[in-house]
Amino acid sequence: MLEIADNGRTWLLSGPASSYAVHLTEDDELLHLHWGPRIALADAEALAVRPLPDYRPFESPLDGREEYPVEGGPRFARPALSVRTGERRGTEWRFETYEADDDHLRLAFRDGGLAITLHYRMRHDVVERWVTLDNEGSALELLRADSATWTLPEREEWRLSQLHGRWAAESRLTASQLTYGEKIIGSRRGHTGHQHLPWVALDTDATEERGEVYGCALGWSGSWRIAVAQLPDARVQITGGAGYDDSGLLRLESGESYTTPVFAGLWSDGGFGGASRAWHAYQRAYVIPDAEQDRPVLFNSWEATEFDISEEQQGTLARRAAAIGVELFVVDDGWFGKRTSDRAGLGDWTVNRDRFPNGLKPLADYVHALGMQFGIWVEPEMVNPDSELYRAHPDWVQFQPGRKRTEFRNQLVLNLAREDVQEYLWEQLHALLSSAPIDYVKWDFNRCFTDAGWPGEPYPQRLWVDHVRALYALLDRLRAAHPNVAFESCSGGGGRIDLGIMSRTDQVWTSDNTDPLDRLAIQHGFSQVHPARVMAAWVTDSPNTQLNGRVSSLRFRFVSSMAGVLGVGGDLTRWTEEELAEAGQWVALYKEIRPLVQHGDLYRLRPPRGGLSAVQYVRGDEAVVLAWLQAQSHGEPVPALRLRGLDPTASYECPETGEIHSGAVLLHHGLRTGLRGDLDAAVFRLRRI
Ligand code: GLA
Repeated sequence: MLEIADNGRTWLLSGPASSYAVHLTEDDELLHLHWGPRIALADAEALAVRPLPDYRPFESPLDGREEYPVEGGPRFARPALSVRTGERRGTEWRFETYEADDDHLRLAFRDGGLAITLHYRMRHDVVERWVTLDNEGSALELLRADSATWTLPEREEWRLSQLHGRWAAESRLTASQLTYGEKIIGSRRGHTGHQHLPWVALDTDATEERGEVYGCALGWSGSWRIAVAQLPDARVQITGGAGYDDSGLLRLESGESYTTPVFAGLWSDGGFGGASRAWHAYQRAYVIPDAEQDRPVLFNSWEATEFDISEEQQGTLARRAAAIGVELFVVDDGWFGKRTSDRAGLGDWTVNRDRFPNGLKPLADYVHALGMQFGIWVEPEMVNPDSELYRAHPDWVQFQPGRKRTEFRNQLVLNLAREDVQEYLWEQLHALLSSAPIDYVKWDFNRCFTDAGWPGEPYPQRLWVDHVRALYALLDRLRAAHPNVAFESCSGGGGRIDLGIMSRTDQVWTSDNTDPLDRLAIQHGFSQVHPARVMAAWVTDSPNTQLNGRVSSLRFRFVSSMAGVLGVGGDLTRWTEEELAEAGQWVALYKEIRPLVQHGDLYRLRPPRGGLSAVQYVRGDEAVVLAWLQAQSHGEPVPALRLRGLDPTASYECPETGEIHSGAVLLHHGLRTGLRGDLDAAVFRLRRI
């Protein structure tokens, strides 16, 4: 809901539980008024007439109060917008007009030929903010154009939570006290990166289920930066957008425009759990395509076969996968070009005829006949120097003239900003998806940008932004042409997870780390912002072949993966009949609880910190608890799990305990899990009776 004051200078957006208000002064300064619990328009108007402190000349009354601080004038805080023309730098805007419909507010400003429009849209309790810049004057350079600056109220002792990591150890949650100055996270790698998810949360004293939490998440899959500043007067501002540095994002010629990615913000007073549930509901309703549809149980061949694949061997795996209840069979790397190792073939998106003599169609048909969907792996933005594509077009990669072309995993990054590269990829992928009944594409991205040059282009920096735009456009075009194909975003595991890619893909590969215990921590962090509906998790072999050699039971591996979109990624040809039979039972159980996991509300009952951890999903009259015991220490009884989100006056039937439990008892005293020893796990279904 959007309300506007009579003077047309105070705007109030409200969701079910929160409000956001801004005010334009007589001098056209756009000030932040409120972000928090729901307030009335009269409250916002009262806040608008509170006088600003006057502490010139050493402090600016605008710092920490502006919605979108531009560079220049009486400001010392980090600018969200930094513009350079031939003559000058900075921005001095005048307000032009506003436009409003239902939940979308546009505030239009102008500085000479540059039109600057700030967009606000309330969706549930998430405020989406972005900016459009239209250059109607002569050419100018956008040194920096952030999506938004968020202003938090004055509080003592803010705490910053973030998700940090690295390859195979993504989305680790950590919290620290915010101190004066700035904390900066981001990526200068050309993709979202494993090192930080583009999300921050700020609180003072929230717990999992209580207290105020502010969160911000950016929808951009290239380099990015979020700066969290604790200002001298106890205010906090969070500024974020595309690009890491301030040294040049884009050059806007006369007539050109730039639209920033969306930076979404959420206020919740339901603690970290409440904030997560609000983020999940928002993404399921507004971001993830077809989120109301269940994601199928998939099998992926990567850990089983790596590059050594053949049609016959994939067929054998497919038969075994179908027998345990898998619904989607995905052939990973190695089916195309000369791709018999990671040294060759990327770029040549035609079937390797030594391995698939009649193309992919016979295998796809076979998989379909087994009752499963068929998927394949691609990595379109890359090329191996040992490929037909690179031999034909060595200038299609990012490179600097006369400099080394840095190879990671023996591959180079294609310059997707080039139209010929865009067209090549469209033709190849469109032909591929038309060549066989393919239902699913795992889209990978396995190295960072290093030599991001574009010889001959007068403003080579723009390839950073244009690469992401081209990727988005290609995905959009493929989705439109092949509406029944689902896409997975992968980047060496979780290197490209953000609201931007999630609006064009159906699920994400959470991490290359498939160790079921390590995964609990990764999933705990991931769930802070993103829902289980997109969080792919495979059951692989024990001992874990890819990483740490950990031995774990099939039970522990399944229950760990069942907290997300279940997949199987082990070598099924080496699983015993008993293991396959047990796997079949777990897959069947997953299909039963899937609506709760993929579409329900998540309650994190206990974080994975060594002993007992658990999550609970609730949907309507049903709930399911997934519990894991890492290690039991002698003399330390395993605690009961106090459940959440149940009706205290109702009774719940649990097939696993064979008991009828009262809601009040489950909420107050908890559920006894019976878990013991090391790496134990269990699932408990609860149905209201
Ligand atoms: C990346 C992915 C893996 C697998 C390999 C294939 O590492 O994250 O899941 O697809 O590439 O080369």
